[in-house]
Amino acid sequence: MLQDNFGRRFYYLRLSVTDICNYRCNYCLPEGIGCGRSLEGENPLSVAEVGTLVRAFASLGTEKVRLTGGEPSLRKDLVPMLEAVRASDKIRRLAITTNGYRLPSQIDDWHRAGLDQVNVSIDSLDPAQFRHITGHDRLDKALAGLDRALALGVDTKVNAVLMRKYNLAELDNFLAWIRETPVTLRFIELMRTGDNHEFFASNHVSGSDIETLLLREGWEQVIRTRDAGPAREYFHEDYAGRIGLITPYGKDFCASCNRLRISAQGKLHLCLFADQGFDMREIIAAGDSDALAAHIRELIVDKTAGHQLHEGFTGATRNLAMLGG
Ligand code: 5AD
Ligand code: SF4
Repeated sequence: MLQDNFGRRFYYLRLSVTDICNYRCNYCLPEGIGCGRSLEGENPLSVAEVGTLVRAFASLGTEKVRLTGGEPSLRKDLVPMLEAVRASDKIRRLAITTNGYRLPSQIDDWHRAGLDQVNVSIDSLDPAQFRHITGHDRLDKALAGLDRALALGVDTKVNAVLMRKYNLAELDNFLAWIRETPVTLRFIELMRTGDNHEFFASNHVSGSDIETLLLREGWEQVIRTRDAGPAREYFHEDYAGRIGLITPYGKDFCASCNRLRISAQGKLHLCLFADQGFDMREIIAAGDSDALAAHIRELIVDKTAGHQLHEGFTGATRNLAMLGG
């Protein structure tokens, strides 16, 4: 079992399959990806390479894989990629993070390919505000896709980044929505990245303030599983849905870290905010998952105790589309 110098084990792999996104979320890519870049991205991991990576990580004890981006559904070969992950029988959970715009047309195919969980980014339930935040008038697509995912029995979660000036006032609307809608709604504390300093300063809302409010309204915390992501989950008997809180600035966030990240070009990132990734492309491309696993074991000793976001340090991470949130 893969373990770092702090005794942390890595049950959870976040695999970016493209660094391209077609949205322009104000906190992430306000200017878009820039013109001239193809929607497939530059030389992203192939299906065979994804297979090799997942076999290597499975042999090191990884049980859950999330495909992320950028926007994973921009990959035309996403379905074979999902199948390549599913081919490793040690992977018990296969998840994807998406902005939802292709969800209505593709969720059936993803489900058939073995997808267990989908996380859809919905930062506002108001169509105009959704457009204002993402640059696209597509709230209806995300919601239609979500309904279909629920109908198929896919575990469905919604990500909302809380922002003081854009959606904090919608908190009550969000809560009213999950009274009847059986999704986990995850409020994500805005993170400061290389590109969003000013935006962060005027929009960051502390996760602990939200938690205080939830506890006061009778929400109770759920126990974590070992492959769980970083969210703390809460339930309430009057609500069909649950709430998750992701508070990267909270105490112990890094101490319970159980995940590693691979960039769309095959670099291993030991932390979302690490200064650099380790380029493993050559070994991945060679297709030998045992050699790759041995290499990952050597690299893991460099994983540091935690990020230094509190000190304002954001490493090489200019925005989260580079690597997936
Ligand atoms: N802070 C917090 N969350 C972010 N995401 C992207 N950028 C940031 C940021 N700066 C989130 C997206 C999406 C997930 C992939 O990462 O909203 O839900
Ligand atoms: Fe783990 Fe880095 Fe995230 Fe901290 S910031 S929880 S060390 S990936």
